[in-house]
Amino acid sequence: MVPSRGAGGAAGGDRVAAPAGPGGAGVIRTVEWQDGVVVMIDQRRLPLEEVYVRCETWEEVADAICTMAVRGAPALGVAAGMGMALAARAALRAGAADPAQGAGAGDVARFRTALQAATKGLFDTRPTAYNLPWALKEMERIWTRDDFSPAEIVAQMESRAMQIYEDDLASCRAIGEYGAGLIQGEQPVILTHCNAGALATAGYGTALGVIRSVHARTPRLRVLADETRPLLQGARLTAWELMREGISVELITDNMAGYFMSQGLVTHVVVGADRITANGDVANKVGTYTVSVLAREHGIPFYVAAPFSTVDLSLSEGSAIPIEERAGSEVTGYGESCWAPVGVRVRNPAFDVTPARNVTAIITERGVAFPPYEESLRTLEVS
Ligand code: MRU
Repeated sequence: MVPSRGAGGAAGGDRVAAPAGPGGAGVIRTVEWQDGVVVMIDQRRLPLEEVYVRCETWEEVADAICTMAVRGAPALGVAAGMGMALAARAALRAGAADPAQGAGAGDVARFRTALQAATKGLFDTRPTAYNLPWALKEMERIWTRDDFSPAEIVAQMESRAMQIYEDDLASCRAIGEYGAGLIQGEQPVILTHCNAGALATAGYGTALGVIRSVHARTPRLRVLADETRPLLQGARLTAWELMREGISVELITDNMAGYFMSQGLVTHVVVGADRITANGDVANKVGTYTVSVLAREHGIPFYVAAPFSTVDLSLSEGSAIPIEERAGSEVTGYGESCWAPVGVRVRNPAFDVTPARNVTAIITERGVAFPPYEESLRTLEVS
């Protein structure tokens, strides 16, 4: 377990109105690099306000992650990569190494020490989503190279951070296409949990990427969105995203999922993932396990959509995944409201693990993995 923390703390950086830039109307700009500043839509304020957080330091990025201005596994990977690019810029400036003259040995050592501290600071933010340490590792491969000068490292890290962003967009589109091939029927009704949409990624979504692609082929698609207690990512974010896209969405409370399944009103479940282990166990937002048990009971296919950067083949099974425990205030109330007795003891695990036996297939940008996942995920790893 890691120390608990709550949403709604200090903002990482300044709040600003929607920035101008590429993308255009209608595009959700979850996290972007703009001239050396990481700009994120503030997900704590949605759907009531569309405001942006500007992070000029890696510490501000870390704060935005802890307080969930940015959230969702792939988006955390993108943010962490960009946070490290900010750290590299700052370390170069602080070392005062004149890039024209080249850095001395002391400068290089200080530069690396600063990047080590930033890596640890970003790693310590949230423990469950694998995309975050994955992105930090990608950056570490660059800053530990001794054949690059600090100035070259900065340039390489910025370019890798942009690549992680672009790759995520492309991966989500591919996931959408693979997933759409699995969803048959004239009028599918997909139940989803939490938000695995544009807001949780660089901008297209994993589970909602599948839903977007299905909708393009089958406009009669309907979506049931679990509200997702305690932070209401389904009610606040998934409903907002799908309504913007004109995709038919109905919001239900988490404990209604069984009712709709028992009435034959759900044809498929599609969810995202925070970490997938070698045997196909899936950590995702708390409540996903319950949905998977219900889906199995009712014979409804249960699909997990995630980029391969969510797959942690170093862990053999889900019991090894660190589960984040967050502040009790997220359960006793929301924002300024508190509905539980003062002083009540609270448990607040943010994720649970769905066993591989409940997962019909795992949809990645490299293809669809079916059981047994020990084999199919390894095959995709080398593809
Ligand atoms: O606590 P959150 O909002 O970061 O949790 C997010 C989820 O559980 C998502 O389903 C998961 O990260 C997949 S996002 C494509």
